[in-house]
Formats: sequence, C-alpha cells, structure tokens
Amino acid sequence: MNTKTLLTGQVLTFSGDPFAAPWQDCVHISAQGGVLLEGGHIAAVGAADALRAAHQGAAEVAYGDKLIMPGFVDAHVHYPQTGIIASWGKRLIDWLNTYTFPEETRFDDPDYAQDIARRYLDLTLSHGTTTVCSYATSHPTSVDAIFQAAAANGQRIVAGKTCMDRNAPVGLRDTAQSAYDDSKALLARWHGQARATYAITPRFSPTSTPEQLDALGALWSEHPDALMQTHISEQVDEIAWVKDLYPGARDYLDTYEAHGLLGPRGVYGHAIHMQPREIDRLAEVGAAVVHCPTSNTFIGSGLFDLAGMTARMRVGLATDTGGGSSFSMLRTMAAAYEIAQLRGTAVHAGQLLWLATAGSAQSLHLGDKIGALAAGHEGDICVLDLASTPAIAQRSSRARDVWDAVFATLMMGDDRAVADVWVHGRRRNAQEHPNV
Ligand code: GUN
Ligand code: ZN
Repeated sequence: MNTKTLLTGQVLTFSGDPFAAPWQDCVHISAQGGVLLEGGHIAAVGAADALRAAHQGAAEVAYGDKLIMPGFVDAHVHYPQTGIIASWGKRLIDWLNTYTFPEETRFDDPDYAQDIARRYLDLTLSHGTTTVCSYATSHPTSVDAIFQAAAANGQRIVAGKTCMDRNAPVGLRDTAQSAYDDSKALLARWHGQARATYAITPRFSPTSTPEQLDALGALWSEHPDALMQTHISEQVDEIAWVKDLYPGARDYLDTYEAHGLLGPRGVYGHAIHMQPREIDRLAEVGAAVVHCPTSNTFIGSGLFDLAGMTARMRVGLATDTGGGSSFSMLRTMAAAYEIAQLRGTAVHAGQLLWLATAGSAQSLHLGDKIGALAAGHEGDICVLDLASTPAIAQRSSRARDVWDAVFATLMMGDDRAVADVWVHGRRRNAQEHPNV
C-alpha cells in the first residue's frame, strides 16, 4: 500500500527566528517545492523534482502556485467563548461579567460543552488552524470535551481547566482544594496522551485567592513538564484591581511569582502594560508571552510592544477567541501588523507567518513537533490560495514578488484563502475544495 504523499507548490520554510536575524536569512519560499508526508509526519522537504524522482510511488497533490505552509498555531483561545464572539460595547471586566461568565456557566452541561468544542475545532480547521492552546471553563467536563473533540480529529491540542475561586458567579467558582484536585485528575487523564498537553490554568489573579494560586503552584511543581497559562496586564483598570487585591505584591507578575506560578513553561496572555521588572523576570526564566492583537483592539486593551518583547523572550500569536473578534490567524496577523505600525515598526510578512506558526509553537514548547515544514515534524499543513477573492486577486496580479502577493493575503484574507488543511498527515479539507 502506498503511504507516501507528495504535496507540491510554493513551500514556506524557516531556518531561524526572523526577529533575531534579518527575515531574509530565516524565512524562505521555494517556488517549485515539495513536502513528502509519510505516516502522519513530514518525511522530507525540498525541490519538487528531486522529491518526485526519489519517491516515485508517492501520490502527488499538486497545488500549483498556492502556498504550502505549516498549519497555524493559535497560542491563546477560550473555546467556550465561541458563541459570544463579537459582543458589543464592553471593556474587559464588564465584558467578562456581561457576556463571558454567563456563557461559561452553561458548560456544566456535557452535551453543550461537547457541541461547542466540536463546532469550535471545525471552525478553526476551516481557518487553517491545526493547533490551539485553549482555556476551558471551570467545569471538568468542559476540559474533557475539548480534549475528546481534538482526539477525534487527531489534532494536537493544549488545554486546561480554568480555575476561579472568587470574583466570579457561583456556577463558575471552585475552591483552592477542588481546583487542585480537579486539575490534577485532568492532567493525569490527558497530559501526554496522543497529541495532548495539559496547561494548569488559573484564569488571572483577580479571580483566584492567594490560597488557590498556591495550590496551583504546588501542582505545577509536582508536574513541571505541564504548561501553565494565565493572563497578565491586559487593561489598566485590571492592573489597578490586582494592586488592591494583592497589596503586598511588587507588580502583577509578582502575584504569580510569589505563588510558584512563574517558570519556563509559563505562557502569559496579553502582557501589554508591563513594568521593566516584569519583563526582566519573564526573560530571565525563559517564559513566553502571547500577543492577542484583535482582542487588544476589540476590548480596547492597548498596543502590545511586539518589537520590544520579541527582543527579550518567546512570543506567541493568538486570536483570543472570543475577546478577539475573529477565528482567523490571517486576520490576527493583519491586526498584529497594524498595531506594530502604530508603534512605529513595519513587521514583514515573513515575520508574521513565523509568529503565527513556529513562534506560537515555540511559546508552547512544541517547536520540535509543529509550526514548521521540516523532516520529523508532524504533518500539520495549511495551503493558502494567494488570489482567493476578486479584491485580493487584482492586488496579487500586480505583485512585485511572491512576498508582495503573500502580504496582500495576510492583510485581506480570511477562511476563503484556506484552500486545504492536513492534520497529522490526513487531508481534512478536500471535500470543500474538490478542484485543488
Ligand atoms: N482575563 C481574564 N479572563 C479573560 C478572558 O476570558 N478574556 C480576556 N481577553 N481576558 C481575560
Ligand atoms: Zn484570554
């Protein structure tokens, strides 16, 4: 039986971090490239002719001038917020209380959790996203639902139970002890199973007591190979609230640091209004922050310092569904570009693509498995049509070079640009696009 598949087209590869060295030295597009898939993994990447000659039995899927790239990695999402994405008129704390918490309360119903988990993963796949790092709700069944839905798709997934023992409705509140116990049981059930990673998940300092943060810090020290995800310094009002709730803390990060929740596998969402000490400490321990640009504009949070943060630490890119206004990492790259422009930096298309794939994967400590087209990596692939709408086609027809065409799709594209998706070496999108 033939188990080799050769994808041919324009192929995106990385040879370094384009924020640490000139992008031209790190990000490459090969016009007549090929990616050989075998047994769910990438077996080889190179010139299409050479791969064809060396693997004559391989079935070829020819994508012409479409761009074959790694599947997108969305490093910070809340899958339970799928149904309330794009809700009007609130800033962070009001938005949580008005829209988010009432919706999350519904996830005590396992059927509802399962329905939304499946719907969410279908939506992300149709947008070319093959891995997400998601918060669940405080209900353990919501955690099982997203891990089960991902496993059914063969998808790589990071997720965890959102822990909150204060400043949240009764239906969402746990305790320090139950958060520890439930997280421990879920971690034992899912962490390292197939393609799953567990992330210990205190929502953010205002919704946890110091006792709960302590308990989760203790759990992390027992399982240092798990990730820990939370939020930090998203809005100015939130930071003032944290100062009131934790009067002894030096800053926001210290509310985590003092309770064992600062470490190299820590993934801190937003990180907009940061103090120099916080940045130094995150950099020192090798932690990651996640840029959520559509969310930061949509909820009115502020302008993330992409140039400053990438110079100091690992940075992932994320939609932050449903604080973010889109499921699309294309839209997210466009927003990241616009915010960087407002801060005086023009980020290159190659840097944006790296951030949305390899950068996000590295922020989740998965950079050796996903986020790049390289031999040995898992076969998670997105194929982009660089002329997916009349508006984009007329622009890309005038492109000076391939990067000019790619940039137009990053700025103007959406799920219509996603021509095909492969998950762990299996084609997922062929029916919607039978003519590729
Ligand atoms: N801070 C605490 N919880 C949340 C959330 O659900 N979304 C966003 N954007 N920020 C948060
Ligand atoms: Zn979030």
